[in-house]
Amino acid sequence: RPTGLPDTFGRVATDLRVSVTDRCNLRCTYCMPAEGLPWLPKPEMLSDAELLRVIGIFVGLGVRQVRLTGGEPLLRRSLVEVVAGIAQMSPRPQIAMTTNGVGLDRLAAPLADAGLDRVNVSLDTIDPAEFQVLTRRDRFADVEKGLKAAANAGLTPVKVNAVAMRGVNDHSVADVLQWCLDRGYSLRFIEQMPLDAQHSWERTEMVTADELRQRLSERFTLTPLPSAERGSAPAELFLVNGGPQTVGVIASVTAPFCAACDRVRLTADGQVRNCLFAQGEVDLRGPLRDGASDEELAELVRGEMWRKARGHGIGKPDFHQPDRPMSAIGG
Ligand code: GTP
Ligand code: 5AD
Ligand code: SF4
Repeated sequence: RPTGLPDTFGRVATDLRVSVTDRCNLRCTYCMPAEGLPWLPKPEMLSDAELLRVIGIFVGLGVRQVRLTGGEPLLRRSLVEVVAGIAQMSPRPQIAMTTNGVGLDRLAAPLADAGLDRVNVSLDTIDPAEFQVLTRRDRFADVEKGLKAAANAGLTPVKVNAVAMRGVNDHSVADVLQWCLDRGYSLRFIEQMPLDAQHSWERTEMVTADELRQRLSERFTLTPLPSAERGSAPAELFLVNGGPQTVGVIASVTAPFCAACDRVRLTADGQVRNCLFAQGEVDLRGPLRDGASDEELAELVRGEMWRKARGHGIGKPDFHQPDRPMSAIGG
């Protein structure tokens, strides 16, 4: 086996996604029920010291980008310290975050000072009333402020992620794009995947990348960027009206990017997932608390990556949605 984090399909993981909490302050209808979910009790979560030790092991295994996710990552009180700890690692990884933007207003500058490089903000609509229906919280203005603060703090390029949903926000995708263009945010639309806690996803309800392109083309001229520039990025990018600004479409279901996947995931309770849709996980927290060495933990991670499947298989007859919902994986 080569060094680092290879799998049996020739891929090498260099991008670590760390869920720093499973909690969230929004209740997006496609993600979780109104009452929330049974959150992880604190003792089951990795402490800051444990988290930084594990991330350091991944960096030693060739990880070059660490992305902090949730739940909502800003809800981890020690997030600034966690970022500062990652920024001290050598070689220093790129540090990114995927957030819903609530609270970013206050935290963007301290996070940037601590070493955060860039953010992706989830925002499915620019209509405050629709935002409230979709997320069950009246926080659109907070997200708007958060985005501004991120740009001011230099957390760029600021990306916006929008999950398209039929009959909910698919009528306004062109408005969302115009809004992002006007503000200098890079928008990416995402095909909805079967990852909701309620297991209510249906293939026929999903807005496909083709449909999205069509709808956007009614108002904008889209020119595909050469796919060679895409690398392992999940989004197919288009120049809007000749550029330089772009819009992306993440076709996770109709055009999976599994063959180029370079990701590995760590959950808030210290489990390693080799795929968003992995059925199994390997536990690092137990061995870590039982005194395992860095080398022993690294071997557990390498073993799990070697078991990584070829792809997610959404739509195949033997597809099973993972037990862990999206909010406890971090996307
Ligand atoms: P960039 O480095 O900025 O391109 O980040 P990203 O797009 O990888 O991260 P982000 O957290 O913004 O995720 C955007 C969308 O891509 C979300 O819907 C994720 O769930 C989805 N996504 C991220 N990683 C994977 C993956 O490994 N497989 C699949 N199928 N979808 C993924
Ligand atoms: N399918 C695709 N994307 C999703 N997200 C949340 N749930 C889903 C889903 N079922 C998005 C969030 C966030 C990112 C991490 O994943 O909106 O932008
Ligand atoms: Fe929270 Fe993200 Fe789930 Fe919305 S999609 S409830 S922001 S974890």
